[in-house]
Amino acid sequence: MSLFDRLVVSSIPFIPRFLVHRVARRYVAGETLDDAIATARSLAAEGAMSTLDVLGESVTHAGQTESARDEYLRVIDALSESGLPANTSVKPTAVGLSIDPDLARRNLSAICRRAAGSGVFVRLDMEDSPYTEKTIRLALDLKAEFGNVGVVLQAYLRRSLADLDRLIEARMNVRICKGIYRERREIAWKDHDVIVRNFAALLDKHLAAGCYAAIATHDEACVQNALATIDRLKLPKSAYEFQMLLGVDPLLRKILLESGHRLRVYVPYGRDWYAYSTRRLKENPSIARHIVNATLGLGPKTT
Ligand code: FDA
Repeated sequence: MSLFDRLVVSSIPFIPRFLVHRVARRYVAGETLDDAIATARSLAAEGAMSTLDVLGESVTHAGQTESARDEYLRVIDALSESGLPANTSVKPTAVGLSIDPDLARRNLSAICRRAAGSGVFVRLDMEDSPYTEKTIRLALDLKAEFGNVGVVLQAYLRRSLADLDRLIEARMNVRICKGIYRERREIAWKDHDVIVRNFAALLDKHLAAGCYAAIATHDEACVQNALATIDRLKLPKSAYEFQMLLGVDPLLRKILLESGHRLRVYVPYGRDWYAYSTRRLKENPSIARHIVNATLGLGPKTT
């Protein structure tokens, strides 16, 4: 990241909330479940599948985790009624992992039980490294009990190739992504090209073992490596799916869909849109730069 971009990123907390909201409209389906279902419906019309995420993470009170759990139960009921090609993604800290692992386990069991009864798949998102081992263990236990559960591995973590062995043994559906949190060099690869190579190595290992993979990236290098592996292994289109975030690179989404690949869009919704949107901005300073310019009256607006 250039010095200018670093300056832009550090100014994000000072960007007026209404301007962040204008950008959020691109990345977040809205505040309500109805908004998320409407977005999933229009994605389905494009040929894309969805995974619905209720925004909110790292809660501090047990009561908040119960609200999150209940919202996920409503998501599952709505998905099963709608018949849409959609599933759900849950951040374990949103249902209590940072408070008490047993609380998270109880809430996730309730979610996975309801989802299993409705034929809905549940993926545990992967958060920062203090939760990696706990999340993998939860996913393995929940999959053993309910069947309809998958998890995520981050290509920037040095441990991920070894973690994949346990997930392959459990025939787990794994989403592979680069990883979004700030991690120490002791545990994480830092170089972009190395992360791209580790992404390819994880995907190759998982697909070659005959397991289902979700390829979550907007990076053409990762997409190209994935397509080469799929071609080499002569995999049918049912053996994997691509995944992208709502609002990011719709052209790449169209290209993959038109080539006949299965593709799922991550659809976040909820009142907690501010933290999610500022994280998106930190990842892509060029958008933040437009907002800073707009705020200072220096350039074109973002919408
Ligand atoms: P990269 O960051 O190199 O981006 C490639 C291109 O896409 C660039 O041109 C960039 O500008 C553009 N781009 C990427 N992100 C953008 C954004 N937010 N806004 C605008 N443009 C953007 N991480 C994690 O730690 N745990 C998780 O559970 C998940 N889950 C997850 C699900 C799905 C469906 C996706 C797509 C991603 C995740 N991630 C995640 C995030 C992931 O780890 C990673 O941080 C982002 O996908 C960005 O990495 P890329 O591989 O897209 O490459």
